[in-house]
Amino acid sequence: MTELELRGFRIFPGYIDAGAQAALVEALRAVVAAAPLFSPMTPMGRAMSVRMTSAGRYGWISDRAGYRYASTHPDGQAWPAIPQAVLGIWRDLVSDVRDPDCCLINYYGEGARMGLHQDRDEADFKWPVLSISLGDDGLLRIGNVARGGSTVSHWLHSGDVVVMGGDARLVHHGVDRIRFGSSSLLSGGGRINLTCRVVD
Ligand code: SIN
Ligand code: MN
Repeated sequence: MTELELRGFRIFPGYIDAGAQAALVEALRAVVAAAPLFSPMTPMGRAMSVRMTSAGRYGWISDRAGYRYASTHPDGQAWPAIPQAVLGIWRDLVSDVRDPDCCLINYYGEGARMGLHQDRDEADFKWPVLSISLGDDGLLRIGNVARGGSTVSHWLHSGDVVVMGGDARLVHHGVDRIRFGSSSLLSGGGRINLTCRVVD
């Protein structure tokens, strides 16, 4: 398989085949049934366009009190377990000695996007972030560790996997837009991105 490298992000195009993508979506349906998607607020009080939920010991949440990890869903229940298929990808590409504590599930409906940001709510940046794309194409923008400067863009397709680690662990990144309806994986359209992280 060809592996691309963009500003230190390791991109594995088509890492997950069509059958495994469909199985992953089924597993995620069970997660979302137990831990429904919600629309987080930024600490500034603006609604994010992405809807999210999590699996694992921790989930990532955001509200007026800030960005953080929490051991329960906003509705009060514990987060469901991370699907085995997701753990398998993590063990293959990141580590077979430590599993992730959190698998954040982001759902991008039509018009959803995510601004440039760093993933920096974790205790130890030596652990990479693993990102899995499912469904519609998403335009990933990659910047720099420092704010500002030039950026590069790359279309992520269903089944693509990205590992953000090493010197690239704190590189700014975001999703400018999705091509709504470009994939038939999700019956209602849209894009799912999973990001797995070691938290503490
Ligand atoms: C994220 O940075 O949390 C999401 C990245 C993506 O959706 O590809
Ligand atoms: Mn991120």
